[in-house]
Amino acid sequence: MKTLTEQTTGVAHGKLILLGEHAVVYGEPAIALPFKAAPVRVKVSKTKEPSRILSSYYQGLLHDAPDSVSNITATINTVCDDLNQSADHLLISITSTIPPERGMGSSAAVATALVRALFAYFEKPLSSSKLLEYVDSSEEIAHGNPSGLDARVTSGEFPVFYKKGQILEPFPLNISGYLIVADTGIKGQTKQTVKDVAKLMTEFPEQTTDVVRSIGRLTVEAKAAIENNEIERLGKLLNQAHAHLKQLNVSNKQLDTLVATAITQGALGAKLTGGGRGGCIIALSGTIQEAETIAGKLAEQGAVDTWIHALGADNNE
Ligand code: PMV
Repeated sequence: MKTLTEQTTGVAHGKLILLGEHAVVYGEPAIALPFKAAPVRVKVSKTKEPSRILSSYYQGLLHDAPDSVSNITATINTVCDDLNQSADHLLISITSTIPPERGMGSSAAVATALVRALFAYFEKPLSSSKLLEYVDSSEEIAHGNPSGLDARVTSGEFPVFYKKGQILEPFPLNISGYLIVADTGIKGQTKQTVKDVAKLMTEFPEQTTDVVRSIGRLTVEAKAAIENNEIERLGKLLNQAHAHLKQLNVSNKQLDTLVATAITQGALGAKLTGGGRGGCIIALSGTIQEAETIAGKLAEQGAVDTWIHALGADNNE
């Protein structure tokens, strides 16, 4: 039994798609990585009062929570039921540095940190397969039909090479360099862009299939570039991927401006990341100094937030 002063914490982090978005829907591979610069922390402690949630999305009683946070409330209630514990008298405080709806896996990361914090609070062991079951269910409530990629990358430690229907293949990002991430401040439009690409696929099957296959080839090549620590080659592949994503009509003016700015400022490559028409771009640089310069210019060009993420050994401790 916990005392009023004790609290437990669960953590998780964001995710980034390096390459392969949209093409992955059509069976091509994608590469995604944990984005540790954007952590989520959930704290659970005991309260004499009825259970409350404190978060940027909702602050109030658990049983009054609106539908917009039903992924969170359902997860709390299911975990407590499964563990034969009461969901009363819990103070659940969620602190996320991942902006929501920017293709960074915010909802999956919150669910992961929440399940970890609850299991720690009730002093129960949590296997990774059990964790994924809870996060997958939470994601189904949040997004309808998630690919499962976010759940696995936000809870995991390693980048993954992912193909629909196949087991995720973890592989180290053995490349010396930095990813600059810049947020347009506009919500990503993943549902709409996935739908629009499907329409293109029906209306122009040959051309669209060609673009999708080309993105798939770039992703396979990127894996080789990473394994051989060829950062300049990786940068070129990112540029080519962005051009293909534009052909699929999933970019927009803000994303294109940020990509162009990054390149002008010396990035080795840049592209949108995630579903597109909003959300974030990623850019690649060889040194931290270049990364800082690029991040500064991206902020001047309208990015509402920027992060610098060390690749390779620097980020694998
Ligand atoms: O916007 P995000 O990070 O959820 O990524 C979407 C990736 C897509 O390939 C466009 C869709 C998908 O389900 O893989």
